[in-house]
Amino acid sequence: MQKDFLSILDWTITDLERCLDVAAQLKRERMQGRNAPTASVLDGQHVAMLFDKPSLRTRATFEIAVRELGGEIIEPHADSTLDKREALSDVARNLERWVAAVIIRTYAQERVVEVARATTRLHVINALTDAEHPCQALADMLTLREHWGSLVGRILTFVGDGNNVATSLAQAGAMLGVRVRLASPEGYGLSDRVIDAATACQPSASVERFIDPHKAVAGADAVYTDSWTSMGQESEAGRRRSVFSSYQANTALMAKAKPGALFLHCLPAHRGEEVTDEVIDAPTSVVFDQAENRLHTEKALLAMLLTDQSLTTGAHPSHQFG
Ligand code: CP
Ligand code: NVA
Repeated sequence: MQKDFLSILDWTITDLERCLDVAAQLKRERMQGRNAPTASVLDGQHVAMLFDKPSLRTRATFEIAVRELGGEIIEPHADSTLDKREALSDVARNLERWVAAVIIRTYAQERVVEVARATTRLHVINALTDAEHPCQALADMLTLREHWGSLVGRILTFVGDGNNVATSLAQAGAMLGVRVRLASPEGYGLSDRVIDAATACQPSASVERFIDPHKAVAGADAVYTDSWTSMGQESEAGRRRSVFSSYQANTALMAKAKPGALFLHCLPAHRGEEVTDEVIDAPTSVVFDQAENRLHTEKALLAMLLTDQSLTTGAHPSHQFG
């Protein structure tokens, strides 16, 4: 398994499936609290969070995840870390002497790659960049698997901006046998390069692009959307509201999907823009299941990245996941 988790594509299909299995196990065991078998797997380890974009879910769930695994979390101020006082590679080489892992939310994907490359021991986790949001896709896949049992052959339609969330969703879906459809206005869809990379890891992968959201949603088992304006694009918000106006997840769009189709959103939602209250508050909406599953999948991710090697070399010989 790779040292870092910068992209869903860093993982094999086996890693991905194992993460979902471990997450399901951790979810079941959570009610045992400090008596859970994993309550001290990060005992004595520190994890740092460096965020230079806002966050509710990712920050809260990673903090809780580290604590529930028995580790300690620190959040050095962004004003003294992400490139403002010293080279990012030097920040990374300092952190490597103190903490086992760093969870980074930033702009360019190259920045998380730079931190990962500057260090040999520090585990780097991508908590969202402009390009990818792999931790979100783990929670999304767990949520869908819980509702469907098996993911294989299910149709999942993402409607809206071909952004970080859409990219990681397409990658994870393609790897796990989901038939992914993406509907975006001309010029806002995922690039050929992203689609080719997503489908390369699974011979039977299916990722299709559409312009017409109604065609893309026809017969879908689930519909997913995200904000039309991502963090960092605020100056484009007005233009985007008009470009995406016919891509709203509303009752008419959901009526094209299979009866009972699930609705997903990574949150935060902009009610009345990309989604209506009726759709996000419907019984078929699983948005808060997704938010909950951020915690379980991030615990699984941390446990796998930080303890797997020690599990096989004897530091925690008594605990096996899965
Ligand atoms: N979905 C998600 O990553 O939420 P936050 O931006 O609040 O962390
Ligand atoms: N695409 C959104 C996701 C927020 C979790 C953004 O990058 O702002």
